Amino acid sequence: MIIGVLNGPNLNLLGTREPSIYGTASLSDILAGLVPVAESLGVELRDYQANGEGQLIDQLHAWRGVVSGVVVNAGAYTHTSLALRDALTATALPFVEVHLSNIHAREPERRHSMLASASLGMVCGFGAHGYEFALRGLIHTLRSRG
Ligand code: DQA
Repeated sequence: MIIGVLNGPNLNLLGTREPSIYGTASLSDILAGLVPVAESLGVELRDYQANGEGQLIDQLHAWRGVVSGVVVNAGAYTHTSLALRDALTATALPFVEVHLSNIHAREPERRHSMLASASLGMVCGFGAHGYEFALRGLIHTLRSRG
């Protein structure tokens, strides 16, 4: 089974970006930490980060028939992008949403997710560890579906 890990705008700056909110791990650190978890679960990972909405949508289209599900941190597009939600539903890729910060404890404009109601579930507020929890949750759900 192959799982995609999709990261949206500004997440390439993790490590130096507002560390008091997002922590000090870089995106490469987070992805490297996911590899042994994926191995222990018997899955392969593909990852993609882009700052543009269209690039993220194109990657989801490209992952059709390739990945079985996706861990998605859409960054600020979470709160704004009907197009990204449409791409997730149009591709019918099962996904778990992840956020480093607890978006529900932040500014009002971050408390709504355009993606959440189409997701299998959401993990937020656990920093970089959230990616592991999201991956485990996604695989658990995909395997229990058979
Ligand atoms: C984020 C939360 C979003 O509100 C923000 O725009 C991000 C990061 C998070 O991981 O906590 O870019 O998705």
